[in-house]
Amino acid sequence: MLLQKIDTLLEEISHKQAETKEEVEAFRLQYLSKKGAINKLFAEFKNVPKEEKKEFGQKINVLKNTAQDKYQEFVERIQTSSQSDLDVDVSLPGQPFQLGSRHPLSIIKNEIISIFSKIGFTVAEGPEIEDDWHVFSALNFPLEHPARDMQDTFFIEKNPDILLRTHTSSVQVRKMENSEPPIRSVFPGRVFRNEAISARAHCIFHQVEGLYVDIDVSFADLKQTLLYFAKEMFGAQTQIRLRPSYFPFTEPSAEMDISCSICGGKGCNVCKYSGWVEILGCGMVDPNVLESSQIDSKKYTGFAFGMGIERIAMLKYQINDIRLFFENDIRFLKQFQSE
Ligand code: PHE
Repeated sequence: MLLQKIDTLLEEISHKQAETKEEVEAFRLQYLSKKGAINKLFAEFKNVPKEEKKEFGQKINVLKNTAQDKYQEFVERIQTSSQSDLDVDVSLPGQPFQLGSRHPLSIIKNEIISIFSKIGFTVAEGPEIEDDWHVFSALNFPLEHPARDMQDTFFIEKNPDILLRTHTSSVQVRKMENSEPPIRSVFPGRVFRNEAISARAHCIFHQVEGLYVDIDVSFADLKQTLLYFAKEMFGAQTQIRLRPSYFPFTEPSAEMDISCSICGGKGCNVCKYSGWVEILGCGMVDPNVLESSQIDSKKYTGFAFGMGIERIAMLKYQINDIRLFFENDIRFLKQFQSE
């Protein structure tokens, strides 16, 4: 009798289906719960005749395992089907975070710093709001000297002694005032000039200044340092040429051209078909400038140079409008990767 009951239940369970959560729970209650059919059969064990006990035991275990497997199967099926209800393809790749990129001016600035740090230059910075002394007077611009007009300065109306620095040469002065030779440093920073904004000029731009003061620093050291820089920045094939120039704070002074990195010197519209492009101003630090900062000009000599970061970036990346650097258009900015 009882053995037959097991067979009937086994038959019943193997044909059961449960599609919803409720049906699955009903199945569990009916067969697998404490008061379920299978437990009830277990309770009958004591009434089973001795000679049937063995068979009963085996059968009821098969029944129990079958019911448990079936239940597990229902639960899993319900879990996967409720996921597909969300209508997402879990095998699709995730949405990546948008990573920002470095501003091209920062990339170039860091590259310049790294090139000079390889030959022992340290880095320092100075204030953007400066006084007349550090931007002009200590750099040998005499008062009322027309050289001051070389750069259109933003002065603070209430106090013309305070101004926005027009070049990073002011940091040369601060460095020489605060330290003893040997000095070998580069000074990156933002500068301001009251210029009409165009594709080639902006009222805000960036420079990197270099200064080396020590015993016996010569023009040959300057030239070799700048040649090294040009080759590192624009490639080993790069040539340089120094043209005599004038700055109040260097004597002699020069402007440096590099062979055009776009056409390799053959002539193109970037170099205006000359094969050369100007990238920086430089010279031997004027003894008056050393003396203004209490450095003994009989003992020490030095060289200095200053370059525009925008100019270098425009040449390197072939950018034809300086305004792009300040517009922060993501389509422009995301094109640059630091190495
Ligand atoms: N300060 C100069 C400029 O802004 C560049 C320069 C720096 C020239 C150092 C000579 C030495 O044009």
